[in-house]
Amino acid sequence: MKKVLVVTYSQTGQLADITARVVAPLRAAGHQVHVETLMPEKSFPWPWSIVDFVDAFPECVQLDAPPLQPLNVDTSEDFDLVILTYQVWYLSPSLPMTAFLKSPEGRALIAGKPVVTLVACRNMWLSAQETMKRLIADAGGKLRDHIAFTDQGHPLATFITTPRWVLTGKRNAWLGLPPAGVAPTEIEGAARFGHALAEALEQNQEAGDAAMLSGLRAVTVIPRLALSERAAFRAFRIWSRLIRAFGQRGQWRRRPILAVFATYLIVMVISVVPLSLLLQWLLSPVLRPRLARLKEELEQPSGSQEFNLHKYAS
Ligand SMILES: Cc1cc2nc3c(=O)[nH]c(=O)nc-3n(C[C@H](O)[C@H](O)[C@H](O)COP(=O)(O)O)c2cc1C
Repeated sequence: MKKVLVVTYSQTGQLADITARVVAPLRAAGHQVHVETLMPEKSFPWPWSIVDFVDAFPECVQLDAPPLQPLNVDTSEDFDLVILTYQVWYLSPSLPMTAFLKSPEGRALIAGKPVVTLVACRNMWLSAQETMKRLIADAGGKLRDHIAFTDQGHPLATFITTPRWVLTGKRNAWLGLPPAGVAPTEIEGAARFGHALAEALEQNQEAGDAAMLSGLRAVTVIPRLALSERAAFRAFRIWSRLIRAFGQRGQWRRRPILAVFATYLIVMVISVVPLSLLLQWLLSPVLRPRLARLKEELEQPSGSQEFNLHKYAS
């Protein structure tokens, strides 16, 4: 029997649902699992008001997270595996997960441990995962596998369906667009990762170096989105520093610059994003080898292959 720590934070319960499906097979196999649900000292709103939503941006990108309530787990406990399940906020880990990874308690729990990350978000998680890798390494943890769940809609449709969900709480199909969020069948399929991890723990694979979740379509990267995301993240870093020069989160004096940023975001989404996707599509014969290399590199370590899907299907 192994000891597993699962750290999670979800606003709608979608990520909590996915997490529960990974945890169930681990418990059924006899492993002892502690699920730590992060609780910010001051909770974040759901749905978000437009002001709160935009005002959270600079601190998300600059990793300046407000404090959490004390954890329920004893930080001296020696776990065999740590699983971090998080959402993406502004191409960065959500603020509660950032707070955990930067806190002395979180760092103590991760130090020297194999770590698996699981993300559920709209579809842009690459920059956030780079940040997760850095924070986990800074804490002395060893990232072993990564699982990514993304929204069911076409990337362009999710520019409407996700903000609608976050700002109104409504996620139903609307105006011919698909529902917001991860598809229910994908959520059900999350159990396969729990089955594979349970077996890996029985075989002490967590103590090695090889990926434990290969062949399970853990991560599928759309390389064309990756290029847009990289450009957006570079711009986000500049904008977030600029806005913070005007004031702290919640202060009125940074509202005018936040309004300028919000306008910039909308203009980007309706003009530059489709244009850059179109340009990449037109250039695809030239870009194809580079995009294929990028896809393979970004899908490491767990990959998008499917050879183990049947073995671990629940
Ligand atoms: C403030 C905020 C910013 C977000 N930014 C992104 C983003 O940059 N990329 C992305 O793929 N999803 C983004 N999302 C969507 C979330 O990752 C997630 O899918 C959604 O909040 C639902 O999470 P939950 O069901 O676990 O509460 C954002 C959501 C919020 C609330």
